[in-house]
Amino acid sequence: PMHVFTNRPEISNAVAAHKENGLKIGFVPTMGALHRGHASLFNFALKSCDIVVVSIFVNPTQFNNIQDLKTYPRDLQADLELLENINPNLLVFAPSTQTIYGSKVESIDYNFDGLDKVMEGAFRPGHFEGVATVLKYLFEIVQPDFAFFGEKDYQQLQIVNKLVSIENLPVKVVGCPISRHDDGLAESSRNMRLTQKHRQVAPFIYNTLLKAKELFNDKPIADVHQFVTDAFKDNELLKLEYFEIANASTLEHTTIKDTNETHRAFIAVFADDVRLIDNIALN
Ligand code: PAJ
Repeated sequence: PMHVFTNRPEISNAVAAHKENGLKIGFVPTMGALHRGHASLFNFALKSCDIVVVSIFVNPTQFNNIQDLKTYPRDLQADLELLENINPNLLVFAPSTQTIYGSKVESIDYNFDGLDKVMEGAFRPGHFEGVATVLKYLFEIVQPDFAFFGEKDYQQLQIVNKLVSIENLPVKVVGCPISRHDDGLAESSRNMRLTQKHRQVAPFIYNTLLKAKELFNDKPIADVHQFVTDAFKDNELLKLEYFEIANASTLEHTTIKDTNETHRAFIAVFADDVRLIDNIALN
């Protein structure tokens, strides 16, 4: 069975010892309920680092919805099995809320220059400050050389870049591609909460993004928005929360195509009470 680090000095000392030996430390923060999407990150980290730390911590401050926090899937034993199968040398850090936050379970106030005000930030108030706060604490404890994040949560990846520059943290942030099921649905811990009916239609989300990407090539942006809105109107099982075309680095809403800029499309959809997100590069 794998060893699980739960307190600060234990994991900090283990990492420090490896660093003194000149080893490069990679870090993959997660909230557990691990799946192949997470596994792709572990494998990226293992390829480029000598020691890889995986944290498993369901961070209360990033949940704007208490019900979402309560129903978030938790299964440490299954997670440890998946990790051991990938590589038994992974270092697992699974702290308690008390260990991370002490008695004050609250977010730090950050100014992300508007990065946190659009899309996920607009629909989930306080979410990114919660994400940034826990990552600041985790980075302090783990002190990694590299930290790996999925493009699945593309806005989060940009927030992490911003956090690292604001706090001047000595870590290199690495973005990794979205891992998908064979039918195109982006892997997510939330997928296991889908009913069979909803799981069957869920690939519609990515298929719509693919069509939007095609349309983007030869139609005005307004047409792409209209297409996506109409597509979801006809779908009885999936409810569109937002579809947004934005500048890939500033995340500013794009209304006019600019070949000098990188555009990306972002989507959030409800399948019953399960909220799914996805995104795609457009050019
Ligand atoms: P979690 O949702 O567990 O995701 C952990 C990491 O796995 C994130 O970087 C996420 O983008 C990545 N990931 C999830 N599904 C993926 C997929 N299908 N393809 C590629 N990468 C995928 O994101 C969080 O946890 C939390 O916000 C956290 C950063 C741990 C802070 O609490």
